[in-house]
Amino acid sequence: MSQPSFELAGKVALVTGAASGIGKSVSDLFASSGAKVLGVDIAFEEKECEESKAPLQKFRADLTAGNQVQQAIHFLQNEFGRLDVVVNSAGIEMSGNTVELSEESFTKVMDTNVKSMFLVCKFTIPLVLKSTNSGSIINVSSDLGIQPIPNTDAYAASKGAIISLTKAQSKNWAKQGLRVNCIAPGPIDTALLHRFHSDATLEFVKNNMIPTGRLGTPREVASAALFLASEGSSFINGAVITINGGLLG
Ligand SMILES: NC(=O)c1ccc[n+]([C@@H]2O[C@H](COP(=O)([O-])OP(=O)(O)OC[C@H]3O[C@@H](n4cnc5c(N)ncnc54)[C@H](O)[C@@H]3O)[C@@H](O)[C@H]2O)c1
Repeated sequence: MSQPSFELAGKVALVTGAASGIGKSVSDLFASSGAKVLGVDIAFEEKECEESKAPLQKFRADLTAGNQVQQAIHFLQNEFGRLDVVVNSAGIEMSGNTVELSEESFTKVMDTNVKSMFLVCKFTIPLVLKSTNSGSIINVSSDLGIQPIPNTDAYAASKGAIISLTKAQSKNWAKQGLRVNCIAPGPIDTALLHRFHSDATLEFVKNNMIPTGRLGTPREVASAALFLASEGSSFINGAVITINGGLLG
């Protein structure tokens, strides 16, 4: 029996939210594991996109706009000619309960976290199916999509929707070898987490709610994405993997 492969040699990956935090770490790890990667993010500067080169190229796009998603995929198709793996990590946080949140805020969270993922999947899946019989899509949800805490109503709703979207998608193209899985991180040490929670709250969470006594790193989430992208996870489909140091519910 041959050894399972956890390499990405010969594969092409598209990673959203690649300018920062988890998406950046996924892009770096995938590129150093043999993949050619296109990172897409609204925060990339034009200059850094122009100067980027294989194995990690960068493309600026607002993924809530279907035409910009399509431009990114046309670029990828021209550069690489195939697509094997998609990691949907772009997202925003938003505090507030249902009474406090404005209609515009709720729409913005759902558009950025859920609609963009729908659009990226909609326009990449045909290319993945054409390219390979072992494709992998990894959608980034959150622990808060499973166990919301107070005043995260819009964010928690969006992250719960991502879990259902993933489970539905995982049923559609499995016979063609396309697996769709979800990663649900707990508190990971990124800019987003520090915008969402005060230092005092994070200190309390670390000391009282995370058995490992520390925040997770983006690299620890990227490692799980690498596993799900590789042939080593070939029978894992429709799964939701929590990465949270054993966070207490
Ligand atoms: N950090 C955590 O503790 C944590 C926990 C659970 C889930 N998550 C999820 O992980 C994902 C990555 O989060 P992170 O912590 O790395 O955050 P981050 O803020 O460091 O990175 C998010 C990236 O998404 C990009 N982005 C936002 N809106 C976009 C748009 N419209 N088009 C294109 N790009 C856009 C941002 O520019 C940014 O670079 C998010 O979906 C987040 O909800 C994070």
